[in-house]
Amino acid sequence: ATLLSAPAFAQDYPDRQVTMVVPFTAGGPTDTVARLVAERMSADLGEQIVIENMGGAGGTLGAGRVAGAEPDGYTVLLHHIGMATAETLYRNLAYETLEAFDYVGLVTEVPMVVVARQDFEPADFAGFVDYVKANADDLTLANAGIGSASHLCGMLLMQSLEAPLITVPYQGTGPAMTDLLGGQVDIMCDQTTNTTQQIQGDTVKAYAVTTPDRLTLFPDLPTGAESGLDGFEVSIWHGIYTPKGTPAEVNERLATALQSALADPGVAEAMANLGTAPSSAEDATPAALQAKLEAEIARWQPVIEAAGVYAD
Ligand code: MLT
Repeated sequence: ATLLSAPAFAQDYPDRQVTMVVPFTAGGPTDTVARLVAERMSADLGEQIVIENMGGAGGTLGAGRVAGAEPDGYTVLLHHIGMATAETLYRNLAYETLEAFDYVGLVTEVPMVVVARQDFEPADFAGFVDYVKANADDLTLANAGIGSASHLCGMLLMQSLEAPLITVPYQGTGPAMTDLLGGQVDIMCDQTTNTTQQIQGDTVKAYAVTTPDRLTLFPDLPTGAESGLDGFEVSIWHGIYTPKGTPAEVNERLATALQSALADPGVAEAMANLGTAPSSAEDATPAALQAKLEAEIARWQPVIEAAGVYAD
C-alpha cells in the first residue's frame, strides 16, 4: 500500500513517545537488549521509546498486554524465543500467537551459559554433570517462569542430565541472579547478556555454553556437545512485535529504525561485550521475524511435548 493510502496517523508516525513492553523485570537480559536498541531507535524515530517492564508467567503477561493494545504503533513488544515456546507450553494462552501480532524484525541472538553459585563444588563441567546427577533432588535451578529462556534451557539441561532439579521461578533473571550471587539458589542457565559481567567478575561459577561452538568471549567454557550432552543446545533470538492490525507503513518505519540501531557501531560493540551481535539488516524485517517465529513454534513443539512440561 502506498503511503497515501495509509491511515492519516500512519503518515505522521511517530508523533509522540512509543511504549516498548519488556515482558520481564528490569535488569535482566531481555531488558538489557531492549534498552540498548530502544535508545538508538528513538534517535532515528525522533520520538522517545519508553521501556515498560511487565514480568510474569514467563513473559506471556507482557506479550498479552501488547496483543490487546491499540494497533497504532505506540505500543510495541520486545520478546525472545519464549514467544514461540509459550504457544506449546501454555494451554490457556490469552492470545493466539500467530494471529495476535504484526512483525517488525529480529534484533539479536544470544548464547546461554550454565552458571552456579560461586562456591558450587564441581571444578569443571564433567564434574558438574556427575555432581548434579547424584544430587538432583537437593539442588535448585532458577528460571524466569515457564516460557522463559532460562526455563527452556533448564528444561533441556534436566532432560540431558536426566536430573529433575527443584526449579525456582522469578519475574526475570535479574532477580534470579541476585539470589544466585547470594547463594540462595544453586544453578541457572542464562544469557550472556546477564552472565558476562558476573563470570568476568568471578562472582559466579561458569561451566558450559549452549552454542554449537565455543564463545570467543569465554574460550575455556566447553559446549554441551563436546561434553557428551547432545541436544543441549539453544540460543535466544529476540524480536520486536506490534499488535495485529498495525498499518504496514508503521511496522516498516519501526523496522528501518531498528535496522539503523543495529547498524550503529556503539550497539555492535556493546553487544559484542555481552557475547552477542546485532541481527543483519535482512533479518531485522517483518518477513524474517514472521518466518523465524513460525519455524521456532514448529521446532520446539515436539521437544516440549516430549518433556511433558505445560502451564495452565
Ligand atoms: C529469560 O530467562 O527468559 C530471561 O532471562 C528473563 C529476563 O530477561 O529476565
